[in-house]
Amino acid sequence: MDELVRRYLRQQVELGGNEVLMEGKTRPGAAGAAPTPASVPTPARQPKDWRVGAPPIPEAGLTILAPAGDDAVLAWSSLSQVADAIGGCTKCFLCQGRTRVVPGEGDPRARLLLVGEGPGQTEDQTGRPFVGRAGELLTDILGAIGLAREQVFICNVVKCRPPQNRKPLPDEMAACAPYLAAQLRLVEPKVILALGATAAEALLNAKRSLADLRGKVHSYHGIPLVVTYHPAALLRNPNWKKPTWDDVRIARQLVDR
Ligand code: URA
Ligand code: URA
Repeated sequence: MDELVRRYLRQQVELGGNEVLMEGKTRPGAAGAAPTPASVPTPARQPKDWRVGAPPIPEAGLTILAPAGDDAVLAWSSLSQVADAIGGCTKCFLCQGRTRVVPGEGDPRARLLLVGEGPGQTEDQTGRPFVGRAGELLTDILGAIGLAREQVFICNVVKCRPPQNRKPLPDEMAACAPYLAAQLRLVEPKVILALGATAAEALLNAKRSLADLRGKVHSYHGIPLVVTYHPAALLRNPNWKKPTWDDVRIARQLVDR
């Protein structure tokens, strides 16, 4: 089997998709399957297009205007300057426990920018966002909508690991907010994907349930913003994979729009 097809099948299983699983049920030689003569080459199965069955772009949701004027946000003129500032940051308690800061990474001109909650253990050790188990799942999800990790920009609400991976506290989120705002201003993505309720709360400055926030296209400073489940939540609850697959396909359509 071609590596591309293998990868696609794995992604479908990961995402809880059943199209491919159904197709795969009838294997050549299995009871009920038409016998495949050795002389007839099996046509190479093409990965299905993510557009097939993708939901329509939903209605407008919340609008957040320009982030609060902060001189630092405007002063940084490159992502590396922002990363340097994060590297020396001692504005909140989280700096005391960090091994490394995790500023974020990806294409500085990315059309899609993803925001998670905060670094976990692997991220704290490597200085890179989403490289643990949740990160592998995120990479697969991106692959399923035809995007390589390198093509997007991935960062978090807070840039240092909270102890025991707890949710960042309001003062920690506030201390880190200028970095995220600066990254958004510099990357200027076409679409923002908020991964989980914490990212949505930080970006939209509104505490809502994920149920309230999903299925709408919010606006961050004029940039369409879609909210979906956090990949770590998907690892705990596979029932959320199908709705996530819908959300990311909405975001993907907005990228192309
Ligand atoms: N979870 C997050 O929210 N961010 C990461 O970078 C990794 C896991
Ligand atoms: N509930 C949340 O708050 N976040 C998730 O990612 C999933 C469910």
